[in-house]
Amino acid sequence: MTKMNEKKVGIIGLGKYLPEHRLSNKDLEKIVDTTDEWITARTGIKERRIAADNEATSDMAVKAAKNALENAKLNPGDIDLVIVATITPDMFFPATACIVQNKLGINSVPAFDISVACSGFMYGIAIANQFIKTGVYKHVLVIAAEKMSSVTDWTDRSTCVLMGDGAGAAILGEVKDGGILSVYLGADGSKGDLLNMPAGGSRIPATVSTVEGRLHFLKMQGNELFRHAVKIMAEAAMKATEPLGLKGDDISLVIPHQANIRILNAVAKRMGIDPAKKLYLNIEKYGNMSAASSAVALTEAVEEGRVKKGDTILLDAFGAGLTWGAVVIKW
Ligand code: ACO
Repeated sequence: MTKMNEKKVGIIGLGKYLPEHRLSNKDLEKIVDTTDEWITARTGIKERRIAADNEATSDMAVKAAKNALENAKLNPGDIDLVIVATITPDMFFPATACIVQNKLGINSVPAFDISVACSGFMYGIAIANQFIKTGVYKHVLVIAAEKMSSVTDWTDRSTCVLMGDGAGAAILGEVKDGGILSVYLGADGSKGDLLNMPAGGSRIPATVSTVEGRLHFLKMQGNELFRHAVKIMAEAAMKATEPLGLKGDDISLVIPHQANIRILNAVAKRMGIDPAKKLYLNIEKYGNMSAASSAVALTEAVEEGRVKKGDTILLDAFGAGLTWGAVVIKW
């Protein structure tokens, strides 16, 4: 919560980029043993975007960042720090944030990646909030960008139907009214094996046998993750809202990480909110874009007029790690 003398920090510009190519459930029926009915009923997803072969995470990140700069009426030179939340970086190193920073032509400002999977946009907002409210930086660019298709096993029907590619970006800065009211973050490394990409790091470096064993693709224990996701997202929502004395009724709109419509409806039920009125969903169009999901969802909620000045919104996410985070913002 904001203390006296601290600056009020808010989101002053939002942007997004979604690759052109749409992969529908019907298209997936031709790739793996699945059906449109199964995917729609079990996940809420109808289609997802897939980046082009020559389109890397940084390319999508830059487009989302430029869109956010335009909406904030700022130039790249106004940015003091670049953070990219991603688990699908262009390469292990340098950081994708450095590649983005260079492409934006702002080569002296600090830039780094954060790797907390789907919670990345929450963690990025939390870091930006600290730097701005303490007066270290004026404008922080937080980008959440993922090319999940690059780590998806297109022979595994239990995961390939879930993921999509895209990028969302937010510029944070000082605001006169409202802004970020609370931030809550958490993690539990003991459950890291529920969702991971086993090879390619220092534990199991890339070899012919790791490639043949398909160990460079995302592996997931979906059922177990589902159970944790509902509990974690509901708890994170409570931890972010309770210190402010807010109840479900006081929240204008919940904008969650778009993992699975059944997870989100269960979270809404636990929070005592009506999903039809107060739960923002765009999972149908994009699937799970990991960190990019909540950033794109917030951008579209604002574009569609679902978030109005004075509204109190809740962002809520969980992801591999496990990690989680929730942010309350007065718009
Ligand atoms: N099409 C048809 N059938 C399928 C498919 C598919 N695409 N995938 C699985 N099935 C089958 C299974 O083989 C199983 O068949 P069986 O009963 O004959 O064994 C049956 O459907 C039921 O499988 P479940 O895994 O029990 O299905 P469930 O209802 O749990 O749905 C799902 C699976 C959608 C993956 C769900 O568990 C889920 O959404 N979990 C959470 C995933 C998640 O949020 N992951 C992202 C975390 S965020 C991040 O950090 C990237």
